[in-house]
Amino acid sequence: MNYKPVQILSIGMAVPKKVVTNDDLTKILDTSDEWISTRTGIKQRHIADGDENSTLFGIEAAKDALQKAGVSGEEVDAIVVASSNPYNIYPSTGCAIQEAIGAKNAIAFDITAACTGMLYALEIGRSFVATGKYKNVLLVATDTNTKFLDWTDRTSCVLFGDGAGAILITEAKDGVDDIIALNVNADGTMGRHIQMNLVGDNCPLVEPATSGQQKITMNGKEVYKFVMHTMPESIMKCLEDAGLEPKDIDYLVPHQANLRIIEGLQSRLEFNDEKVIVNIDKYGNTSAASVPIALSEAIASGKIKTPSKAILCAFGAGMAWGSAVVRLREGLK
Ligand code: ACO
Repeated sequence: MNYKPVQILSIGMAVPKKVVTNDDLTKILDTSDEWISTRTGIKQRHIADGDENSTLFGIEAAKDALQKAGVSGEEVDAIVVASSNPYNIYPSTGCAIQEAIGAKNAIAFDITAACTGMLYALEIGRSFVATGKYKNVLLVATDTNTKFLDWTDRTSCVLFGDGAGAILITEAKDGVDDIIALNVNADGTMGRHIQMNLVGDNCPLVEPATSGQQKITMNGKEVYKFVMHTMPESIMKCLEDAGLEPKDIDYLVPHQANLRIIEGLQSRLEFNDEKVIVNIDKYGNTSAASVPIALSEAIASGKIKTPSKAILCAFGAGMAWGSAVVRLREGLK
């Protein structure tokens, strides 16, 4: 089969307006700005307010990506949405975005791969383009984890923020593939370390189930240990697949979960600060949206210059993790 190469057309993002600082959190928790910023790098996070939800932010990010690429909703052939906390399980967030952007010719569906969702979406999207059946594929990652946090658990609730990112890809007419290498991975045996249950009620004719709580629980230490060996391995494998070395890469755009994890990856790659995209201080961990938000913001601010090559990497519940080496073309918005 003659596989079609992929062009990255544009990156979009959206975050809630409402900002909650570390100092704000001290009003409801026994914590401090000093503890949170030293241990995680987070200073503040954007949080969904009132009726705001992951569908709404997903629509805004999708519109941003379409507008930057000059592509209309009708020209989109497929919408893949990564979300761990969709506003509705069904209809899917993909279908809601399809309606909002007028993508009447597109198929639309959701996937769940927690914080690695955008890399999984990219794997699906590139395969769609590769077959030649779908041309313009819109990948959206949107999460509002703050609605599912235990706000009395200071070990987890300080870490997250809300937002959405979108990547529009298409068939590369010039034959140059922007996805130079991409690997996603999963290890279900580690699943217990980050969980969010969705527990309903049984039929009244059968024994009631123990009612669960839809709150995120996380063993931060175990996640940290796991990530510190899997993520560098994943990045190095991806570079090897790409036939490249760290020195050939211009930027690292990592999942924004903890600054210490990012610094560990930075030192492994021997990158200076200019090459590492960090915005965890402003947004916290926005889960699947974290990598596209970091990419979108860094391109818009000029921190990322094009043409260039970047490593994208993410990890999270599952455990699931992945890395990509991508080409960012001149003028990419
Ligand atoms: N404020 C003040 N003190 C706190 C807070 C807080 N917010 N949270 C914990 N502490 C206390 C603890 O109670 C503990 O006190 P003790 O020593 O008296 O018992 C002390 O600080 C140290 O706690 P640790 O858990 O050992 O802190 P650690 O240095 O491991 O940092 C953290 C915790 C930030 C969660 C870190 O382990 C981490 O970032 N892990 C990775 C998490 C991650 O990346 N998740 C990503 C995936 S999310 C997803 O997929 C949905």
